[in-house]
Amino acid sequence: MLKKIEFVKSVFDKKDLPKDNLPEIVLCGRSNVGKSSFINLVFNRKNLAKTSSTPGKTRSINYYKVEDSFFIVDLPGTGYAKVSKEERARWNKIIRDYFSTVKKIKMAFHFIDSRHNPTDLDILLNDYLKNLLIPYIIILSKSDKLKQSELSNTRKEVIEFFPELVYGKNLLFFSAIKGTGKTEILHKLSDEMKINETFLL
Ligand code: GTP
Ligand code: MG
Repeated sequence: MLKKIEFVKSVFDKKDLPKDNLPEIVLCGRSNVGKSSFINLVFNRKNLAKTSSTPGKTRSINYYKVEDSFFIVDLPGTGYAKVSKEERARWNKIIRDYFSTVKKIKMAFHFIDSRHNPTDLDILLNDYLKNLLIPYIIILSKSDKLKQSELSNTRKEVIEFFPELVYGKNLLFFSAIKGTGKTEILHKLSDEMKINETFLL
């Protein structure tokens, strides 16, 4: 099993964004939706990305390099109520700087907790990605917390918010506990990055 992923660096300021000209897949969405847990599950590395039940764990832009060919970028979560105004402003700036500076964003994975409807911030983020013409997939996270009947309702509701979504194509359920969605994600990554999927599986 060959699956190389390495932590590269934490970036707090746009001048420190990596100079390597590698394509990037960016993970974004609200705090606590499971972005860091996603990295650990998809790449079979239990504690590579730090996770926490306290929202706001990831405070920097964290870069991981996969198979020496692309970056997975874990953005700090936005929109958690319990952070100070200053802290929130700092996060917003980091995220704006990221999207306005990095030119090789191949795709964004926008995480939304499958138990909740998209928030205003999710709508903003979606608009943002559309305006920048960044291809995106919406990942409905923590799907292990829902019953089968709830899953199909959630799916319908999210499509009402974002009618361009097609389940299985740019809308997926994901569970870092059960592994739901992992195979589909690995397919997407290998398709996008044109690397042999056996590297990833
Ligand atoms: P920030 O770094 O604050 O932006 O959060 P994050 O989006 O990186 O979330 P993180 O991966 O740290 O997970 C937040 C909490 O949700 C942790 O307690 C995780 O154990 C839990 N969690 C993550 N993914 C899942 C999942 O698929 N199912 C369940 N049940 N819990 C999950
Ligand atoms: Mg995190």
